[in-house]
Amino acid sequence: MSYPYQIKSLEEYNSAYKKSVEDPEKFWADIAENFTWKNKWDKVLEWNFKEPKIKWFINGKLNITENCLDRWAESQPDTPAIIWEPNDPESHRRKFSYKELLLKVMQFANVLKNNNVKKGDRVCIYMPMVPELAIAVLACARIGAIHSVVFGGFSAQSIADRIQDAECSLVITADGAYRGNKTIPLKAIIDDALVRCDSVKKVIVLTRVRTPVSMIKGRDTWWEDEIQKVESEGNPYCAAEEMDAEDMLFILYTSGSTGKPKGVVHTCGGYMVYANYTFVNVFQYQPGDIFFCTADIGWITGHSYIVYGPLSAGATSLMFEGIPTWPDAGRFWDIVDKHKVNIIYTAPTAIRSLMAYGPDFIKDKNLGTLKVLGTVGEPINEEAWHWYHENIGKKKCPVVDTWWQTETGGIMISNLAGVTPQKPAHTTLPIPGIQPVLINEKGEIAEGNNTSGNLCIAFPWPGMLRTTYGDHERCRMNYFATYDNLYFTGDGCLRDENGFYRITGRVDDVLNVSGHRIGTAEVENAINMHTGVVESAVVGFPHAIKGLGIYAYVIFNGIHHDEDLTKQDISQTVARIIGAIAKPDKIQFVNGLPKTRSGKIMRRILRKIAEGETHNLGDTTALLDPAVVEEIQKGKL
Ligand code: WTA
Repeated sequence: MSYPYQIKSLEEYNSAYKKSVEDPEKFWADIAENFTWKNKWDKVLEWNFKEPKIKWFINGKLNITENCLDRWAESQPDTPAIIWEPNDPESHRRKFSYKELLLKVMQFANVLKNNNVKKGDRVCIYMPMVPELAIAVLACARIGAIHSVVFGGFSAQSIADRIQDAECSLVITADGAYRGNKTIPLKAIIDDALVRCDSVKKVIVLTRVRTPVSMIKGRDTWWEDEIQKVESEGNPYCAAEEMDAEDMLFILYTSGSTGKPKGVVHTCGGYMVYANYTFVNVFQYQPGDIFFCTADIGWITGHSYIVYGPLSAGATSLMFEGIPTWPDAGRFWDIVDKHKVNIIYTAPTAIRSLMAYGPDFIKDKNLGTLKVLGTVGEPINEEAWHWYHENIGKKKCPVVDTWWQTETGGIMISNLAGVTPQKPAHTTLPIPGIQPVLINEKGEIAEGNNTSGNLCIAFPWPGMLRTTYGDHERCRMNYFATYDNLYFTGDGCLRDENGFYRITGRVDDVLNVSGHRIGTAEVENAINMHTGVVESAVVGFPHAIKGLGIYAYVIFNGIHHDEDLTKQDISQTVARIIGAIAKPDKIQFVNGLPKTRSGKIMRRILRKIAEGETHNLGDTTALLDPAVVEEIQKGKL
């Protein structure tokens, strides 16, 4: 097996890029030819960014699971598709060949059918990082159900919001999850969520930790019992539903600068082609390589680079249930040695945290099988980049710094490992098909090199979001209304003297905390739900491990018996409403917030104070009451 569209040299990159801009339709059609279609498309692209309307491979019919499973089950049945490393290094790893994975997926697809799930129905998946999570995702895709995976760290309230928004009819979960030396009671959290979710008719529960759980008659059923039922029915086959290229494949909720998280919608055809193309090219995957993406399938990185990208390329994807620091901070590197990993893809926050544990945890590791290192989720600082390159890659592995978003479906700006040049802390060059544009403060296109601005994309690509679920206007407002005819990413960006891109971070009110995307408005809403809280303002501040930490300024008029306890209580409320990942790192009680005369909080000033800036707070003349700034500065934590 080889990938005819795999770029092998800088010259090939340049010519692919040129072709992708001059004739995008031909460029993507040539790539799409390499997939299994039940029916070819009759037109490659229809689009405008005004509505927006984006359609790729019009009238093409396919099922993504035939591309991820059936074709490989036939041509390379015994190649491992998924290798699973459990939380506990002493327990057994599990392995699924393409042939085995296809069978498991068809079996569970039949379970879904038995439970009345039909094409177009939404299924919420809230599971630990076990192979059954990937199986559940693919089983939905098999029958044309739309999956909405919710990360295991979100609270009952967050799950309920997501289930209600998508009107899910079925939930797939587990009794509990292992995470380092802790267990998390997933089913109990689902039970709390479902108090508010009338649309859910069935809950399928996988046994993982075998903690006692409540099972409601008529609604809740065990995964294992359901499998037994389909086994006794004796038909292991499940046909792949014919899907239109533009039918929804999944919804994934993500935070924006306002309101509740929005359901980013990806469709079958374009997403598949794009996830595959970027996987094959950025990581320079070669058949037989073991690819280890450390993300959770609850995030887009897991969707695109544990499941759909690697499997659609017939690759071997390593899936890890645990955390990088348990039983010790050498866990990733033990996994690399144990499974002879060739490509590892992780987040700067993990790199920085392992770096902080010191050299002891790498000194007796081999790491000799590694060929490519990847990073994603937030800007990587030069120190972490060099540590990764030197200590893990032994200076012989290219580091791919991959910039992209839930909305983009796949990697957008990144060097191609060993093929295009790398530069520490720079994501470098766009993937063929991607046309980045920087917009300066005047709202004009910043031309040439050595410049900066807000990062936009000028032309559609197959993996881009199509809408936000149930609210197309919100999609337009969020991404297509800021600048005419451009997709606005929300990120700030520099273009250096070589034309390499460097992402500087979000320019909106979204924080990347440990690579998790959190909206400041969401955290404020949660804090404001705490009794006694009058108002709050949340900003990010530089954090050595997390990238950004969460700094909350809170006006509180309740009675403090103990200020520290009140802070912990507020954190607890945030954990209840959103999840532990959104707990503030610092809470400062204040008497007032800096506001303009029209009542708008001036976050710019609060951000500067949180960053430790003492003098240069910028223009404060628009403030209603400049005295609050001084007071806030005095109380800074
Ligand atoms: C940030 C994750 C700098 C960025 C795939 C983006 C990055 C947000 C990088 C999307 C990178 C992602 N360098 N920043 N290599 N990769 N980001 O939706 O701010 O969870 O807008 O998708 O992460 O986060 P999301």
